Amino acid sequence: MQIDLANTNALVTGASRGIGAAIARAMGRAGARVAVHYRNQHAEAAALVVEVGHGAEAFQADLSDAEACAALWKAVSGRFGRIHTLVNNAAIALSCALESDIAGWVEGWDATMAVNLRAPGILSKLAIAHFLEHGGGRIINITSRAAFRGDQPPYLAYAASKAGLVALTRSVARGFGKGGVLAFNVAPGFTRTDMARDFIGRFGEDYATGDLALTRLTEPDDIAPIVAFLASGLADHATGCTIDVNAGSYVH
Ligand SMILES: NC(=O)c1ccc[n+]([C@@H]2O[C@H](COP(=O)([O-])OP(=O)(O)OC[C@H]3O[C@@H](n4cnc5c(N)ncnc54)[C@H](OP(=O)(O)O)[C@@H]3O)[C@@H](O)[C@H]2O)c1
Repeated sequence: MQIDLANTNALVTGASRGIGAAIARAMGRAGARVAVHYRNQHAEAAALVVEVGHGAEAFQADLSDAEACAALWKAVSGRFGRIHTLVNNAAIALSCALESDIAGWVEGWDATMAVNLRAPGILSKLAIAHFLEHGGGRIINITSRAAFRGDQPPYLAYAASKAGLVALTRSVARGFGKGGVLAFNVAPGFTRTDMARDFIGRFGEDYATGDLALTRLTEPDDIAPIVAFLASGLADHATGCTIDVNAGSYVH
């Protein structure tokens, strides 16, 4: 069996670092042409484009802005033509203390939902129309263990946004499978990235590793091959599924 993404085009959001960068590398290694999306980290995205090769290009967009989401899709499809795979990976994990006043707490809630749920929703809406017109495609949403087991009190919005993403995926899989649109969730546990550093700084390394069945923290490269596999079409009958990648924390 070979994971072959030759002659396919993919948009990976939040690909400038962390899990998204590893996904872009893995998909590029499998032969895909990758649109490397980023928000601020232009230099990192530009370097990754060179590393990924296969005609990869960098695209900037602040996904907290609904119009920027639509403009991103338009820019990538305008440049690449047909897109075969959308990977909704970009997200933020804002700490919103319960002690904050309502205005501050709602600000964090809304900011989280805009990037983590509304942006994947807009990109999925546009991708579905594109895929239906072009003979199909795949959406892979990077959700989180937090969607299923919840999260610490400052991250209520984060966990809720990731649970919403799971329902979005399942609805896409359910509603558009007969049109050739497949949708999958990949749900990491703690993974060594900038985002996890914030959690670990707050709750400690023991919190991150204490509930794992394995000895080491998950790395971005432990997630990326699964996304490439789902994008390859070898797992289409798993549409609507969630693949947990959390170092066995549910069985520990
Ligand atoms: N790390 C973990 O422990 C963990 C656990 C479970 C799930 N996840 C999920 O895995 C995915 C990747 O997480 P990560 O740990 O790799 O995160 P990360 O290292 O913090 O990287 C976040 C990425 O998202 C982009 N981004 C953030 N805000 C954005 C915005 N407003 N508009 C556009 N792009 C934005 C960043 O772009 P810039 O670099 O340009 O700022 C960056 O590329 C996320 O969906 C996350 O929820 C992570």
